[in-house]
Amino acid sequence: MDHFLYRDGVLFAEDVAVAEIAASVKTPFYLYSTATLERHFRLFDEALDGLPHLVCYAMKAASNQAILKTLAGLGAGMDVVSGGEYARAVAAGVPGERIVFSGVGKTQDEIRAALQGGIRQFNVESEPEMRAISEVAVSLGVVAPITIRVNPDVDAKTHAKIATGKSENKFGIPIARAREVYAEAAALPGLKVVGIDVHIGSQLTDLAPFELAYQKVAELTEALRADGHEITRLDLGGGLGIPYARSNEAPPLPTDYGALIKRCVGHLGCEVEIEPGRLIAGNAGILVSQVIYVKSGEGRDFLILDAAMNDLIRPAMYEAHHDIVPVIEADAGVEQAAYDIVGPVCESGDTFAKGRMMPPLAAGDLVAFRSAGAYGAVMSSEYNTRPLIPEVLVQGDQYAVIRARPTFDEIINRDTIPAWL
Ligand code: LLP
Repeated sequence: MDHFLYRDGVLFAEDVAVAEIAASVKTPFYLYSTATLERHFRLFDEALDGLPHLVCYAMKAASNQAILKTLAGLGAGMDVVSGGEYARAVAAGVPGERIVFSGVGKTQDEIRAALQGGIRQFNVESEPEMRAISEVAVSLGVVAPITIRVNPDVDAKTHAKIATGKSENKFGIPIARAREVYAEAAALPGLKVVGIDVHIGSQLTDLAPFELAYQKVAELTEALRADGHEITRLDLGGGLGIPYARSNEAPPLPTDYGALIKRCVGHLGCEVEIEPGRLIAGNAGILVSQVIYVKSGEGRDFLILDAAMNDLIRPAMYEAHHDIVPVIEADAGVEQAAYDIVGPVCESGDTFAKGRMMPPLAAGDLVAFRSAGAYGAVMSSEYNTRPLIPEVLVQGDQYAVIRARPTFDEIINRDTIPAWL
């Protein structure tokens, strides 16, 4: 459930009419709901009730400072994957002991910054990385807490570009080699092994792959303990999917997921960490856009919007579906028509939907892309010198611009002209 609902045919974000924000901020823009972010975080937190746990929000999904602060205020930890994300977490007031550092290629500079600023754990992805973390820690005279990400060779049954748990993927170390790699880790002077990490992919709509992976992690926990390692923490990753096409999708709920976690690893006495991103932010955000033109093509009509693939890349990149709804609801019984919904960017890939049934729309009408809160703004670019679009946060009856749209001058002035020109 989210807080983007129609009231008398007008789309609201919590208690603010979307059209009112559009009039002052100008389209396109991202719009987030505080109540929805909070609700989704709490769903996970409550689903793990009874187990010692920390929900580390995967901030790659949406990393605006205001979003991070909203979640941090509820006690969220953060999962970061770069020095930049680490700095964002710290800037939002998240203490180091609530930040986990994931990612396949942490540089020495990133490792150093995290060790100096404080870190809950590094989720190590390879042996060379493990050695690098040990070296940096020794050079600073500290010990780095680590888990090792194991690749369980499980098919997450999701889009190939976001599956991470098969042996052909670049992530983690093969689970079959885990005992050997843990033995080396235990012998390295700068490391303290604290647990195991796993993450098998994103937008999983079936719990079975999680169950397979978590059972393997439970078995590995016993084996590593028998080898003498102190395994006190299990980081079980993120990945729980959300309904994108609301009329026909009902993925499992965080409560089902929490019950599964308890079933698979609850008996081990470990502290559990999870790293949800999409489920917290996805349906807590919409992308609001305006129809620029309705163009009749050969055998099809195009809705040309002012949002484009540079603002929301998911349809172009993953063939992703986003529900697109009018901000002013059509009258009941109005006949729908099929539209190809596109942006103004100069490539055919700038297509959000083909043959989408919509009520009749005209230039100037507002539409909202649902489920755009995760992997929307963070993946946007200024391709075609289209400024990064604003982000707006609603709370109850108030709203604030949490990232302003840059001016053309600001964009151009980021370039510098060499002396010879
Ligand atoms: N933990 C790790 C180590 C991850 O790599 C990811 C996502 C997450 C947690 C969070 O997964 P989530 O709960 O959000 O599914 N850009 C793609 C999604 C990429 C996901 C990458 N890793 C998209 O737009 O669908």
